[in-house]
Amino acid sequence: MSGREQITKAAAFVRGRTKTVPTIAMILGSGLGALADHIAADAAIPYAEIPGFPRSTVEGHAGRLILGRLEDKPVVAMAGRAHFYEGYMLADVVFPVRVMKALGAAALIVSNAAGGINRQWHRGDLMIIADHINFMGANPLSGPNDPDVGPRFPDMSQPYDPELIALAERAAVAEGMMIRKGVYIGVHGPSYETPAELRMMGRWGADAVGMSTVPEVIAARHMGMRVLGITAITDMATGEHVQPVTHEDVIRTAKELEPKFIRLVRRVVREMPL
Ligand code: HPA
Repeated sequence: MSGREQITKAAAFVRGRTKTVPTIAMILGSGLGALADHIAADAAIPYAEIPGFPRSTVEGHAGRLILGRLEDKPVVAMAGRAHFYEGYMLADVVFPVRVMKALGAAALIVSNAAGGINRQWHRGDLMIIADHINFMGANPLSGPNDPDVGPRFPDMSQPYDPELIALAERAAVAEGMMIRKGVYIGVHGPSYETPAELRMMGRWGADAVGMSTVPEVIAARHMGMRVLGITAITDMATGEHVQPVTHEDVIRTAKELEPKFIRLVRRVVREMPL
């Protein structure tokens, strides 16, 4: 599904619905979708209408691609995303990122809900992603590579853009909010981690664990996009004092910290050199 013709076809379809030529792409994570309401939108297209787009089966809605202006910058935002655990191939999970790049986006702000592994942290914290570990057991670039889309063996020495990380840190200070920075480990899911798995991930250097983001970041870097990742720590997954985790708890906590997330991202977008 990720061939150039499919990307071109989907991008052409979206262009037919909007005047917006986005420079910034955004993926809104679980419980963080209300940022979309702050976009002065000229289009909100259900994924089901866009050729080749995978539909999320979990979020309670099938997902929409929103185009318009945020802080007077032209943006494209995904409200809802497909996950590996829904049974999609990772190449399909990242297809929308490829389309957003084809529409003009040079940077991607990706967000997610995740379990906190770092013991100094708390439920409700926001984290800037400094780096990631791909523990999904698969890669979205598996299979034939189109050199016009990106290289066969893309560099991953700087998956998250240092300048955008610094900008986000400054934005958090300016907004008077405490922010964490750490390593995100992406897992297949959908079962949450066992205590032994969480202890292992902590020893590996992971600060937070979730079931998304890593494939989209790999695809974005494959195409040379600059990436900023923001994680909402929705539960503490330390591997000790284990609290059972439910999807409802995760969504509730993400909703609680959503206003903070929105303030941060709006300021980042305002100050982004794009
Ligand atoms: N583990 C994996 N994914 C998650 C978690 C978690 O604890 N919380 C939110 N997404």
